[in-house]
Amino acid sequence: MPSVALFYRITIIVQHSKHIKEVLVEMELESEHLVSSRTATAPKKRVATGVPGLDPLIEGGIQIGDFVLLAGGVGAGKTTFCAQYIANSIKLYNEPAVFATFEEDIRSLKSNILRYGIDLGALEDTGRLKLLDLEVLEGSGMGANIEALLSSVDEIQAKRLVVDSLTAFLSGAKEKFDYNFMMHLIYKTLKRESITTIMTVSKPQNSMEAPSGIEEFIADGIFQLENYVNQHMELKTRFIVRKMRGTDHSRKYHTVAFTQNGVEIIPWSP
Ligand SMILES: Nc1ncnc2c1ncn2[C@@H]1O[C@H](COP(=O)(O)OP(=O)(O)OP(=O)(O)O)[C@@H](O)[C@H]1O
Ligand SMILES: [Mg+2]
Repeated sequence: MPSVALFYRITIIVQHSKHIKEVLVEMELESEHLVSSRTATAPKKRVATGVPGLDPLIEGGIQIGDFVLLAGGVGAGKTTFCAQYIANSIKLYNEPAVFATFEEDIRSLKSNILRYGIDLGALEDTGRLKLLDLEVLEGSGMGANIEALLSSVDEIQAKRLVVDSLTAFLSGAKEKFDYNFMMHLIYKTLKRESITTIMTVSKPQNSMEAPSGIEEFIADGIFQLENYVNQHMELKTRFIVRKMRGTDHSRKYHTVAFTQNGVEIIPWSP
């Protein structure tokens, strides 16, 4: 259970939110072992990411309602990847989507992503994209951020969500207890609403090391982007699927190309 103070503050701030309230009740029940055992279900349907080269590596896409971390070092292409996932959602798959940013302000995000021919402003004007500029908030403010995310999702009936970055979002947690509690709350709320979500996390470059936080255990999938310098002293980027529940995924490193259209996953070439 979270620290009593945080639990109390979040309960107060979200008392008008049916989503979070119901999830809090479920979490309470689970902690008392009162939840009945889950029954087996058929494999879940998938949503294609539309990021060139990726979907064939993950059986066609991400399972609906799953929560995927996109881990990577600085400048490894996390924001670009997320923008493609969101733009493809709307343009190719006709699914409204929410993009929440803590990292770049919306104006610079739009202008950087426009370089790839992705016009986030125009997508916003269709009413099927919601861009959210969130601030790092502490304590109950974190509950308010989740509430802002879910209200936006509700407003446009979004099926997909990006948070860039979870690292910034969770930096509002002062204690480990609060951090873990917020992570469980986010995971369960999104799962319950069947929103297929990608959240970025900042990681050091050589990162096949042990997982660093509870989010890596909780996530259904982990994609990793890594920068490295090859033998010709060139800065290159590689991609690997580190984990994907319920999926026979690629276990190889792939090269990431930065093209005119964004990132593309291509066969390995060091
Ligand atoms: N128009 C472009 N064409 C090709 N490559 C580009 C272009 N714009 C940016 N890049 C490459 O993409 C990198 C930045 O990508 P992006 O912002 O998606 O990475 P990030 O992982 O989100 O970075 P950060 O750690 O700053 O959040 C740049 O460092 C550059 O190498
Ligand atoms: Mg970024």
